Amino acid sequence: MLRRLAFFLGIPALEPESCFLWIHAYILFPVEHMYNGLTRFFRNRDQLKTLEYLVIPEIVKKKEGYDNPVLRIWSAGCSTGEEPYSIAMLCREILPVNFTIRITGTDINSASLATAKKGFYSAEITSDVPARFLERYFDVKPGGFRLRGSIRDTVRYAQQNLTAGSGLSRQDIVLLRNVNIYYDKSTQQEILNEVRKSMDSCSYLFIGEAESIFGLHAGFEFVYTDWSVLYRKC
Ligand SMILES: C[S@@+](CC[C@H](N)C(=O)[O-])C[C@H]1O[C@@H](n2cnc3c(N)ncnc32)[C@H](O)[C@@H]1O
Repeated sequence: MLRRLAFFLGIPALEPESCFLWIHAYILFPVEHMYNGLTRFFRNRDQLKTLEYLVIPEIVKKKEGYDNPVLRIWSAGCSTGEEPYSIAMLCREILPVNFTIRITGTDINSASLATAKKGFYSAEITSDVPARFLERYFDVKPGGFRLRGSIRDTVRYAQQNLTAGSGLSRQDIVLLRNVNIYYDKSTQQEILNEVRKSMDSCSYLFIGEAESIFGLHAGFEFVYTDWSVLYRKC
């Protein structure tokens, strides 16, 4: 059975054990990975440096004359919340006090969103969350840590399929990290079109470090920084 599946998938003739390894590596692992929603706090520090030192200061400069400036950020495919909450903590540290932070986390998976809303995480997060953030923004609870309400309340969650449109608009920053990688080109294009529609002019898009929008009709320009690459909606 495994040999036959391997044959149809164009995998060279192999022993059954090797067939299983191939199938796991190329098919099962990506699918599990997508639905497991693998994520972590402060994932990809270089992208977060770009956010902290380039993107947020530029948006703050653009909006500093506004009466009630709002920074809108969308974590598209937010899984269990580590990504939007990391951004919320970062913003709390660096945004001028007159700015309102509005972060939206969306995902197709309702169980992941339920975890995100609770904001409770196991003790393993100590390897990802800097000690000063743990101290400032989490309460120690039996079996782990719970994010304080001041950060939880910054993020609004909604269940959404990215291909169906978000209903969001004027987003200053979108994180579409490690989501599109699992889709074929035409679905990637569909998702990118929807994401672009939600974005303000001169706004920024982050995708996963192993991803590319090469070959898609994107309407973004490539921005190269000291820390990472990202895209600007022109
Ligand atoms: C690997 S996780 C990435 C989480 C986070 N963005 C990060 O980089 O750490 C991928 C997430 O995308 C979600 N996802 C996959 N396809 C989606 C779709 N069509 N619409 C909304 N969410 C989707 C999955 O449920 C999963 O939680």
